Amino acid sequence: MQPYIDQTADFVRRQLTHAEAGHDWWHILRVWNNVKFILLHEQADRMTCELAALLHDIADSKFHDGDESIGPSIAGEFLANINVATEVVTHVQAIISNMSYKASLGIVSFHSKELEIVQDADRLDAMGAIGIARAFHYGGFKNRELYNPNIPPHVHQDKEAYKNSTAPTLNHFYEKLLLLKGKMNTATARRMAEERHVFMEQYLTQFYKEWEGN
Ligand code: ADP
Ligand code: NI
Repeated sequence: MQPYIDQTADFVRRQLTHAEAGHDWWHILRVWNNVKFILLHEQADRMTCELAALLHDIADSKFHDGDESIGPSIAGEFLANINVATEVVTHVQAIISNMSYKASLGIVSFHSKELEIVQDADRLDAMGAIGIARAFHYGGFKNRELYNPNIPPHVHQDKEAYKNSTAPTLNHFYEKLLLLKGKMNTATARRMAEERHVFMEQYLTQFYKEWEGN
């Protein structure tokens, strides 16, 4: 099992050499570490979880004109090439296609304990101090305002509207980041999410205090 994981980690590290900071190798490494921690407390197939964590952002649809099939096909082709068993390959592909936040807003077509774990690990990396850094990094990439008191946050029902929204980055906290704690699949991730959630709330309190100038 370890040679498959090592080869996959090498492949992903090379593929993501020039990736932007929100989805670079360090994001993958953090998600992989979250998966390993969750697996200390949850029962699931370790190889599937680790391979899916490593490959889950190999081609983000946001940077491929919304094409959600590129990631799973690159991952599948790579794993088949290094002779990973077909059922593991298929499972990893299913996890990658089903774990995006957007997939979770729509019809979810696939369930497994392994999907739950990798999804939790990825969502944890969107919370807390790292989550805040990633949100402002993404907002900068999209040239968004940090905050605008005249634009209240609201939850976008429509996926396209959400993607194309020009809302300030602070709105993203209310539209997604503060909701993540309630979306954890496993008890272990729910515990890990607690501290990160409290930190984001404290951050917002401080943000408004400074915004008002005191
Ligand atoms: P993931 O790759 O973790 O499934 P996304 O690709 O949706 O999730 O987001 C990657 C990172 O960019 C996350 O930390 C997320 O909070 C941040 N992000 C996504 N959309 C926005 C947005 N509209 N404003 C600010 N940050 C965003
Ligand atoms: Ni991710």
